[in-house]
This record gives sequence, structure tokens and C-alpha cells, in this order.
Amino acid sequence: MSIETIFDTMDYGTAPEDRGPALQWIKNHGGIAGPYINGKWGPFRDDLTVCNPATGEKLSGMTQTSAKEVAEAVKCARAAQPSWEALGGPARAKVLYAIARIMQKHARLLAVMESLDNGKPIRESRDIDIPLAIRHFYHHAGHAQLMKTALPDRKALGVCGQIIPWNFPLLMLAWKIAPALAMGNTVVLKPAEYTPMTAILFADICSQAEVPPGVVNIITGDGSTGESLVESDVDKIAFTGSTAVGRKIQDSVATNGKSLTLELGGKSPYIVFDDADIDSAIEGLVDAIWFNQGQVCCAGSRLLVHEAIAEDFHSRLKVRMDKLRIGDPLDKSIDVGAIVDPIQLLQIKKLVAANDAGETYHANITVPDGCYYPPTLITGLQPSDTLMQEEIFGPVLVSTTFRTPSEAIEVANNTRYGLAATLWTENINLALEIAPKLVAGVVWVNATNLFDAAAGFGGLRESGFGREGGWEGLQAYTKTTNPSVSAKAVAAFKGTSAGSDPVDRTAKLYIGGKQARPDGGYSQAIYAPKGQFLGHVPIANRKDVRNAVQAQTVCAWGKSSGHLRAQILYYVAENLSARRESFAKRIDEMCGGNAGLEEVKDAIDILFCYAAWADKFEGRAKSVPIRGIALAMREPVGRIAALCPDATPLLGLVAPMAAALATGNTITLCASQPFPLSGTDFYHILETSDVPAGAVNILTGQQSELAAHIGAHMDLDSVWCLSTQEVASSVKEKASSNVKRIWQGAALDDHNSWLDAGTEIKTIWVPYGE
Ligand code: NAI
Repeated sequence: MSIETIFDTMDYGTAPEDRGPALQWIKNHGGIAGPYINGKWGPFRDDLTVCNPATGEKLSGMTQTSAKEVAEAVKCARAAQPSWEALGGPARAKVLYAIARIMQKHARLLAVMESLDNGKPIRESRDIDIPLAIRHFYHHAGHAQLMKTALPDRKALGVCGQIIPWNFPLLMLAWKIAPALAMGNTVVLKPAEYTPMTAILFADICSQAEVPPGVVNIITGDGSTGESLVESDVDKIAFTGSTAVGRKIQDSVATNGKSLTLELGGKSPYIVFDDADIDSAIEGLVDAIWFNQGQVCCAGSRLLVHEAIAEDFHSRLKVRMDKLRIGDPLDKSIDVGAIVDPIQLLQIKKLVAANDAGETYHANITVPDGCYYPPTLITGLQPSDTLMQEEIFGPVLVSTTFRTPSEAIEVANNTRYGLAATLWTENINLALEIAPKLVAGVVWVNATNLFDAAAGFGGLRESGFGREGGWEGLQAYTKTTNPSVSAKAVAAFKGTSAGSDPVDRTAKLYIGGKQARPDGGYSQAIYAPKGQFLGHVPIANRKDVRNAVQAQTVCAWGKSSGHLRAQILYYVAENLSARRESFAKRIDEMCGGNAGLEEVKDAIDILFCYAAWADKFEGRAKSVPIRGIALAMREPVGRIAALCPDATPLLGLVAPMAAALATGNTITLCASQPFPLSGTDFYHILETSDVPAGAVNILTGQQSELAAHIGAHMDLDSVWCLSTQEVASSVKEKASSNVKRIWQGAALDDHNSWLDAGTEIKTIWVPYGE
């Protein structure tokens, strides 16, 4: 090529990175990616093949770790855990720091290995994946150092099973392993079958860093090895991957009490207002959807552009797409690399081919043969079109338009996911008005795909639950040092007489601010310890649950200020206080004994306590290394249902209600099954305390029946299972329907745990500067 032609085309030359050292490392390692258990390698078997997606060539063989070998890894992790925790934070910090230093030393080898294995451009693995992974270990070395003073009431969970996907192999490993080790856990991690190589390299780094045997165990294999890990004797499963597998995992841990965090898929909106800096927004889109070939859970894959600028925006975007360079991932001047595997490529092609809506534009560039897919834009879609709803997990951007900010919010939130969102506008007021209204765990303002170890990342809805990164990420790897609570089943008292009052005085359910007869029309008699008849309570059914959740949905409690929430909780407390004798008498009649007055006092205290918290449970401004801020905002989880404990019928109802209301949630309370009359009395207090309709609903009846309906309800965001283990299990068995958060309570004076259960962190990134 002549110099003149180069000036003419302004074409770049190739700048290939040397793959030699990485290939040599694999060779020296015996050409097999095999397990690393208890500080030892093996067994090495050529059961599965790991390929370089850019060429289709075999990179390495891989052991399919068997169920027995997985169990052995978990056993070693369990044996190592107590001494790893007992080592203390500062000593663990040293080990994490050593890992970070060695990773830094081998950063280039790790980057090349990642690109060879995954197909991502070396520019991304070198400048994003590996530095962020290293930063994670440094940052969490700090958390280990500070644990004793900063988190005095938290301790390690134990052994953590961790399953990661193929899109950010080393980075996801770091997100999982660094916080777990920092907090004193040991881990058994399974990398994805397509991309085990950097995990293997990491295991080698662990032995160089003198991580004690059994603290970090890596097991290789496909989904069946993952299944064995889920079924093994671990205390927690942390999973990142598809929503379908996340659901399966939630089902299989339903009955065995393991902790769970799920980071699943997304279909994240990328909203461009008419006053946005269009060139920057287009450059942002390159990072949002063509970064890592669009194989990013939080990819800005749904473009919503203001109608007034849509035509101009799309045509400028197409010009930019035509300038993207696609090809050899190890070429330093490549923008778009290879798709991870032919199966994934086929999936992308199928989804695009099945779409006949809108207009499809493929970048006008030469696409190499093999596992490559051109950057693609599909415009003119409707929010309900399949491609606007389904995760494509490829370099395909779909687009629609909006006219007003409220329409933008509505379309943005019209998805079952809730992982991330991006918005572009030069109007900061508009940005900060919109960001809290987007259903997403992360919102980027005038930027996209910003990550840092100090900032929490994670989803809402079917994008999963739990946060990774920052202080909030440590929650998922620790438990409280306070004694655990376990509510016991209490049998209802029996009697024979149904009372002689000719007028029916059956209590009602309380739904949407009104007393309501049960849909099924059935009730049950409640008796005192000696068999005297006390009253009838309704037996709620599935339709009553549905009506209660519907009332929660239309209630705007979440939008009220902390101050107002406090005022209303104080009012409830005052009104209960005024009727303390009658509530105490009722408790004594139902339960026997004379503890009623004490329980009413505790209920009033807890109302005052959460009224006080209502405007004080705050977020943080994060220390992230950008020119800008990352705000960790505490948002209500949403619609909660609580299955209240059998004992303490008033306190067990009032405590979850107060914590949920204080944090901005609405709640449906299923009152104590044997002693429900405190629940049916309590709605008289609510009726006179300005609690808005739907904010609190009270049901009575058979908890085991209600639990199944509550577990399966698609509009409930969280269930607080404060009743028996059996009831909790029925909820959990159904909870994966919409990936619900399940929480099993904490000691009543552990306010932070209750407030945490009522909130989720949303991280809002706002870079600044011209
Ligand atoms: P996947 O969810 O099947 O795999 C993720 C990890 O889970 C891998 O390590 C895999 O071996 C393991 N796994 C698979 N089945 C399992 C089981 N039953 N029990 C325990 N572990 C199991 O994701 P896959 O098949 O690689 O990709 C399929 C689709 O998932 C993609 O097209 C994409 O839409 C989505 N995906 C989403 C990711 C995200 O970060 N949100 C990451 C990877 C894939």
C-alpha cells in the first residue's frame, strides 16, 4: 500500500499483540485447564475442548470436574475456612494485596489470555477487564483490613460456591473471590466452560501469593459441574449468568437454607433526550452495545431516542458504525472482536432473523469469516416487539422513540429486567429527576458502563438480587454476629362453641384501605387457651392476595418523603398507645398469660423507632476514581409480603410493617395463624392514622396456603418469611417465578438488617467536567 493511499483512506495498520507467552503458558501447564483443589492441581483430563473463538483452534483441553471431585473441593474449602477467618482481617489483607501485586505483574499475560479465550479486543481486556480485576483485589484488601472496626457485627458466611459466565471471565472472578476472601470465607469457583483460562492462571497466581491451601478452589466444567456445586455442602451460591439458569438455581436452593445472590440478564435502556450532546451520546453507544461485542449483561441494548432528533441521531450513528473495525481480537486497533462461540453466534443470528419488525442496518464494513457478527442497528421497533424485550447478548442495538420524559420512563421500565440504564441530557435537573424513576440497579448519566470496586453493581426484578462491589457488596459475603432468629410453630387453641351472638361479627380482611370480606367466603373460629370462643376471622385465598398486591401497586407510598413516613408512623404509635389496654387484653385472651401489656409497649417502641429511622437511613457518595460522583441511593424494594410469626401476634405484625413503611415499601401482612385477632383489631388503628390505602394490607387464614400464592405472585418484589421454616419453604419453592427476594428476618433490635431488607442500592453515576 502506498503512502498516498494511506493518507487517502486514513486506514490503520494492524498492531497484533504477541500470543506466544500465553500459548507457552498453556503448553507448560500440560495443555489442560483442570481443577485447582486444596492448593493442588488436577485431575487433568481432556474431557472438553476450549477454543479460541477468533480462529476456532483448540486452545486447551478441560477437565469436566465430577460431582465427587466437586464435593472434595467443598470439603477442603470447609476445612480451610475456620483458620482463614481466624487469621484476621489484616493478615487476609496481606494475601489479597499479594494477589493484586502478582496480577499486576502478569497483567499483559492475563489480558492476552483473556482475549485468546473469549475473543474480546485486547484493548478492552488490557485497559478494562484486567485493571478493574486488579483494582478489586486492592480495594478488598482494604475491606479485609478494616473489617473488625468497620463491620463489628458481621462475620464470614463460610464456604461460598461461585459460578461465573464467559463474558468477563477474570473480572467476574475478581468480583466474586475478592469480597469473599476479604470477609473470611473460602471459595469454590466454577468458571464458564467457554472461558476457563484466566481462572486457571489466577489459581497459579494464588499459589505464588501463598494463599493457604483450600482457601481458593477452582473447578472446571460445564453446567453439570455447576449443578453439582449448587447441590454441594456450601453455605452460599453466588451466580452470574442467564436468568434461566439463575431461576433453576433459586429453585434448587429453595429448601436447603443456602444464601443466594443472582446477577442475571438485562435489556438496559439507553435514553437520549433532545438536548443531549449527540456526538458524545453516539460515542457512549459504541461503549454501551459494541463493547465486548454486546455480550454484556448491562449493555445499553435498547436505544430510546427523542422523536425530534431520532432521524439525525440514527443517521449519525450509522456513519459511526461504518467506522468500527472488526477483526482479530489481538489486534490493538480493533473495536469489535469475535463472538465467544459458534453457538452464541447462531443464537444472535436466529433472534435477528426471526424479527420482521422495523428496519435492520448492518455496519457497512468487512466482517471476517468465522465467529464474527457485524455491529447492527434495528430502528422503528415497538416497545412490545420481541427484540425490545429479549436479551440478544450480541452486537445488536434495537431502537424506538419517545416524545416526553414520562413516556421515556414508561418505555424504559417496560421490561422484566432491571439491571442498568443510561441517560443523556445536558439538563442536570432532568437527569436527576429521571434517574430515580428508572427501574435499574445502576444508572449512568452522560456516560455508560462505568464500573469500580467501590461502587455497588446488581439488579432488580428478573436481573437478580444482591450487590457486588463497595460496602453493600460485603453484605452478600457476611452474616450478622447477632443470634439468628427462628420462629417456632404454635398450635391454635381448640374449642367447641362458636358463640351465641346472633349477629355475625366475623372480622374482615383489610385490603386497599377498606375492610373486605374474604373472596372465598369462609372463616374460622378462634379460641382462648381454655376453649372459650373469641371470634371469627376470614380465611383469605389467592384472589385476596391478588387484590392486596393490586392495592399495593396503585399506592404511591414509595414516593412519599421520609419526613411524611415518619409522621404517619408516629401517628400509628400514638393511636396504638391510646388503646394499649384493649390490645393487651386481646393478646392475653388469645395467648394466655399476662405478657400482653409488655408486647403492646414493645410494638409502640418499635413504631417510634422506625419512625425515627424513616428519614435517616441514608445512602452514600462513593469514592470512585473518576471526575464525578457515584451516588449509592437507598430505594425501597417495592411490594413486600410478610408472613408474620405465630407468637407475639401484635409485635410480629407491627415490626415488619414499621420497617417496611419506614423504608418506603408497601406491605401485605399475613397475620399470626393461631392468634390472628390482633391483626384484625389493628386495622382500626390504621384507619385512623392517615396510612394511605394499599400501603398496608392485612390477611388472615392458613399461612401455608397463602405462602404458595405469595411465592408465585409475579408483582411481589420481596417476601419476608418470619413464620415457620415450612411456610418459608413453600414461598421459596415458587419464588423463582419472578426472581423474588426472600428474607427470613433478624432479631427485632437488629434495625440495620430490617432496614437493609427494605431497601436496595441504586448506584447513580454522574461524571462532571466539560
Ligand atoms: P449460562 O447462564 O448457561 O452460564 C453461566 C454459568 O452457569 C456457566 O459457568 C455455566 O457453566 C453455569 N451453568 C449452566 N447451567 C447451570 C446449572 N444448571 N447449574 C449451575 N450452573 C450452571 O449462560 P450461557 O449458556 O453461557 O449463555 C446463555 C445466555 O445467557 C446468553 O445468550 C446470554 O443471553 C445469557 N448470559 C448472561 C450473562 C450475564 O452476565 N447476564 C452472562 C452469560 C450469559
